[in-house]
Amino acid sequence: MMRSYLGIAAIVLLGLAVALIVGFYPVLSQTPVVYDDEQEDFDQQIVIKFSHVVAENTPKGLAAQEFARLVQVKTNDRVKVEIYPNGVLFSEVDEIQALQQGNVQMIAPSFPNLSEWLPSWMALDLPFAFLTHDAVQEAFEGKIGMTLFGQLEKVNMVGMAYWGNGFKQMTSNKGPIILPSDLKGQHFRTMRSKLLDAEFRMFDMRTTEMPFNQVYRSYETGMVDGGENSISNIYTKKFYQVQKYMTISNHGYLGYAVLMNRDFWQRLPADLQRQIQEAMKETTEWANLNAVRMNEKQLEEMKSESRIQIYTLTPEERMKWMKAWDPIYDQYEPVIGTELIKQIRLLQQKYGGSS
Ligand code: LMR
Repeated sequence: MMRSYLGIAAIVLLGLAVALIVGFYPVLSQTPVVYDDEQEDFDQQIVIKFSHVVAENTPKGLAAQEFARLVQVKTNDRVKVEIYPNGVLFSEVDEIQALQQGNVQMIAPSFPNLSEWLPSWMALDLPFAFLTHDAVQEAFEGKIGMTLFGQLEKVNMVGMAYWGNGFKQMTSNKGPIILPSDLKGQHFRTMRSKLLDAEFRMFDMRTTEMPFNQVYRSYETGMVDGGENSISNIYTKKFYQVQKYMTISNHGYLGYAVLMNRDFWQRLPADLQRQIQEAMKETTEWANLNAVRMNEKQLEEMKSESRIQIYTLTPEERMKWMKAWDPIYDQYEPVIGTELIKQIRLLQQKYGGSS
């Protein structure tokens, strides 16, 4: 009897021992002998949050998507770019600070937004600074582009690329704009830039700085009469539905600085940095051509499908605008810097300007 009790107890104990080993085996077998948190970081996918304020089907929106795709391919999924368009995360008022603080890792603000932090960036917003697309590319790839990127370091940012959108045009509800005197008494929305405000105020008009995603409503309600923007922004945000007149003036250029948080960039392993740079280079080549095509196509679409009245300045009228705006170059030279102004003047001469 005693022996059979002992036998049962032995079987129960054996069963318990087997259950314990089987039950805990997966946990025991997966626990590394030495815990190494650096190794764990490398295994994880790195996420780059990329915030911007325009629609997805714009030159900037599409370039961001192409960049995300190429980064995924080139880094073999080790880096993922998450895009937040339409200002859903940050508007242009707070995106630069968000980048500096590392709340996002990438943004692509239009040039005016940078001039608040670094006034020499106003160089790119001077009226008629660039007379052709080739002039724009030369500025991006040459001395001007390099000088401006060189200043980003001190504000904890790295310049990854320049993406173009297109030349700016004027729209209004108050009447066709053909000569500078037509702006008298009008009220324009301006992007965030003291220079752009000053440019329009030369013509006896009012200006109000306003984030991009409030513009449609302020045209619709008549809070402002008009403003300036690229064809692509006028088209994709449907400004043509709430503006009566558009003047093809090509009087300024709307472009973007593609920026990354500097601390984040420097912490990335060298191989990932290289792959991201490759992705950016390919994206930029494609994006700058695509931007030109999109603006051309969308202008044709507005001509055929919308009721906005479109007027194209004659060369003589354009010359009058150039002359009227010329004094702003001297006025802003102390802010922008003599060398940058000189570089812009050289480009204007090279690409057919009068100055
Ligand atoms: C605007 O504010 O109108 C533009 O700068 C928006 C953009 O990013 O293209």
